[in-house]
Amino acid sequence: MSKIERPHHAADKRAELTAGSRPAALLTAARRTPFDATLEEHRGIRHDVQELTDLLSRYRVGMEDKVWREWMSGFSGKLEGLHARLVEHFEEEEQSGLYEVLGEKLPNLVPRTRVVREEHRTIADEIAGIRASLDVLQPTFPLEPQLLDRAREVLYRIVCHERKESDLIARAFLEDLGERN
Ligand SMILES: [Fe+2]
Ligand SMILES: [Fe+2]
Repeated sequence: MSKIERPHHAADKRAELTAGSRPAALLTAARRTPFDATLEEHRGIRHDVQELTDLLSRYRVGMEDKVWREWMSGFSGKLEGLHARLVEHFEEEEQSGLYEVLGEKLPNLVPRTRVVREEHRTIADEIAGIRASLDVLQPTFPLEPQLLDRAREVLYRIVCHERKESDLIARAFLEDLGERN
């Protein structure tokens, strides 16, 4: 079961955001957005990424067999969990109306928004590829440095992706609140 809160129907969200006659409602909500659940999930994803980054930093070529097996089990399990979480998160974002709202509110940033959206597939595919390699290499030690580098790289890309998305959401709402120049 996902930890994320299922958003309202996409049409409801778009209506909330595009209703120019309701700025007071947005203001009284203390700058809450219809995508607060998305932003909260970004914090959860960052936490998972940090755990995996910490695990990667504890990888040592000279690990004892028992330590290696524990490390591998922990890393594979956490990576699998993050993969499932991201696939659901990306699907949620694409079906919730988020990207349609960003396009409406930030017309000058449509190309950038499109690039961010396209990262969903490349990130999910890359994690799937790393998991497949781990499944094949599980009995062997040490792991190929290239595989560890790929894992570090995709974790960094996830953080960048969610940061860019959070920034776009914030910009869209500043537009909505009329606080931008
Ligand atoms: Fe996303
Ligand atoms: Fe996201």
